[in-house]
Amino acid sequence: MERLDKIISATGKYTRREVKALVRQGRVAVDGVPADAPEKKVDPEAMEILVDGVPIGYEKFTYLMLHKPAGVLSAVEDSRQKTVLDLLPPEMKKRGLSPVGRLDKDTEGLLLLTNDGELTHRLLSPKSHVDKVYYARVEGCLEPEDADAFAAGIQLSDFTCLPAGLELLSDSECLVTVHEGKFHQVKRMLAARGKNVTYLKRLRMGSLELDKMLEKGQFRPLSAEELRGLKG
Ligand code: URA
Repeated sequence: MERLDKIISATGKYTRREVKALVRQGRVAVDGVPADAPEKKVDPEAMEILVDGVPIGYEKFTYLMLHKPAGVLSAVEDSRQKTVLDLLPPEMKKRGLSPVGRLDKDTEGLLLLTNDGELTHRLLSPKSHVDKVYYARVEGCLEPEDADAFAAGIQLSDFTCLPAGLELLSDSECLVTVHEGKFHQVKRMLAARGKNVTYLKRLRMGSLELDKMLEKGQFRPLSAEELRGLKG
């Protein structure tokens, strides 16, 4: 059971203040009866909640695709620096969302935000080997031997990477596909080949592709099809 105003505002359609006004105006009904107080405790999964006769579209979990810009941290909060959660409007920020995995502060691209802990755990589990595709620009000249070394498994100072994909796009640009997610992994793998990464962007995570229509800093909910693909 949860507070009615919390449940309705969690849909992102109304602020808590607006919900209070809606209740006062008699526009909110729970199981056919006009609600008398915004703080009333109700069960959103078992009870029908209508605003102006329209179901509120309650979803247990929220799944957002964010186009992370450079310069923000993949964290929930930080006392000094801007985080990806700071890119969301206040009502979204209250939903307990966390980024699924981390991108470096200077890395851009696809970041999934959700409050579905089970899915997060599954996507991040090393056993899942969810593939991630990055576009990278480097200093130095990429060569077919770099792709061979990636396919064989790059040896870093503290571990050997799983075989990974490297597709050359030009002398200084490539697509990298990794099946694990260690700290600074793509940068370290390319550095091990003498190529310093100057720009990195994640394009895909499992079946989920960054929507090309999303500008940096923008987000949107996942479609039902995208969510089905991720849940497998
Ligand atoms: N690999 C990196 O080096 N950085 C990222 O942000 C993601 C993958």
